[in-house]
Amino acid sequence: MSENTKSAKLSIDGKEFDLPILSPTAGPDVVDIRKLYAQAGVFTYDPGFTSTASCDSTITFIDGDKGELLHRGYPIDQLAGQSHYLEVCYLLLYGELPTPAELEDFECRVTNHTMLHEQMMNFFRGFRRDAHPMAVMTGVVGAMSAFYHDSTDISDPWQREVASIRLIAKMPTIAAMAYKYTIGQPFVYPRNDLDYASNFLRMCFAVPAEDYEVNPILSRAMDRIFTLHADHEQNASTSTVRLASSSGANPFACIAAGIACLWGPAHGGANQACLEMLNEIGTPDRIPEFIARAKDKNDPFRLMGFGHRVYKNIDPRAKVLKQSADEVLDLLGVEDNPILQVAKELEAAALADPYFAEKKLFPNVDFYSGIILEAMGFPTSMFTPIFALSRTVGWISQWKEMIADPQNKIGRPRQLYLGSTARNYEDIENR
Ligand code: SDX
Repeated sequence: MSENTKSAKLSIDGKEFDLPILSPTAGPDVVDIRKLYAQAGVFTYDPGFTSTASCDSTITFIDGDKGELLHRGYPIDQLAGQSHYLEVCYLLLYGELPTPAELEDFECRVTNHTMLHEQMMNFFRGFRRDAHPMAVMTGVVGAMSAFYHDSTDISDPWQREVASIRLIAKMPTIAAMAYKYTIGQPFVYPRNDLDYASNFLRMCFAVPAEDYEVNPILSRAMDRIFTLHADHEQNASTSTVRLASSSGANPFACIAAGIACLWGPAHGGANQACLEMLNEIGTPDRIPEFIARAKDKNDPFRLMGFGHRVYKNIDPRAKVLKQSADEVLDLLGVEDNPILQVAKELEAAALADPYFAEKKLFPNVDFYSGIILEAMGFPTSMFTPIFALSRTVGWISQWKEMIADPQNKIGRPRQLYLGSTARNYEDIENR
């Protein structure tokens, strides 16, 4: 970032404080308040961090007003249309698109780390069969620090690299095994002769009783869904990973924290909640009832898959997913899927409603993804695990960037305290 000659002036009780203004390569200027408390003895107050930059980064940029998403400068619609997930992983991790030799080496390293330590199978078997796959993923990923001790020392760049490759490579295996475990089917091991998306589909849907041929349409759609969920600036789960990592915790524990945060229905859990909402609406004639509920201040109901802290225009990922939904369902012969029709009519009704227009509420990444995933054969409980699998590269890239940053220090926010001031203990007889 460049230090501007510009500065912001803050006046408190007649005293003036100059706060430097830092300029980004894109997006709004930031007021540097790092010295504010030392100089002025005051904190800033920003629950939910609506106006707060927690770090500087070179990985992903979102222009919420334009509805633009760039990964290392490349627009998401170009990456979704022309690249593939492992190439996007390379871009996010190392900053540039790979040469053919670099890509081949990277894909080979990932492919050769897809298997899990055999002892981890017992870990899966400790869960109830009806456990949510996200509960299993949170536990198993956290437990990786108990199995891969040679890649937990974050001060060693080589161990950081190994941990990164292991996590990206093993997440599909873990997610697929979490799914198989909950449906009582045997685990399917990864294969080195399949690409990343095809391997995941086979590990989810193959059974020992027959051969499984990967449908190239599904594999391309799966890879595109991975790409569209790969990274997204300092969202709640990425911020969780950064905060956990700031204490020096090992990478597996930090990614497990990110998975736990992503699970919430306001974040990555919205894809499951959105499809459940569309199924509850059921038919287009019930759309007005749900639009009215979403607008009712006394009703906690919100349109799932709608709205976003940053996008005040349609989420560019939703645009690609809407087009992909049409293509995939058409190719799968389910183009007359009634839920897709409900989704499209719900989107049109909401976008035509002044409430949503005034609040700039548009479909986000979770609005159409579930329709595609359900058509591909996944139960709703697997939607957020697939989001977590996809986002692992984003969490890891941001984690690596933070650890390599010489400014890196433990994150420790302050507070606006509204509790009791000091008072003396009263013995119970006197209360
Ligand atoms: C993801 O941060 C990221 O980048 C996340 C993500 C990523 O890739 O990492 O993009 C992934 O999490 C996408 C978001 C998925 N969540 C949902 O679809 C759940 C439904 N949406 C919301 O709950 C909400 O829109 C959020 C959580 C996404 C954003 O919430 P904000 O930014 O805190 O906005 P807000 O709650 O302050 O809402 C502003 C106003 C409120 O009305 P007022 O109090 O001003 O009168 O808009 C209303 C809200 O009530 N509103 C909605 C709404 N979302 C916001 N009203 C109805 N339906 C909705 N979906």
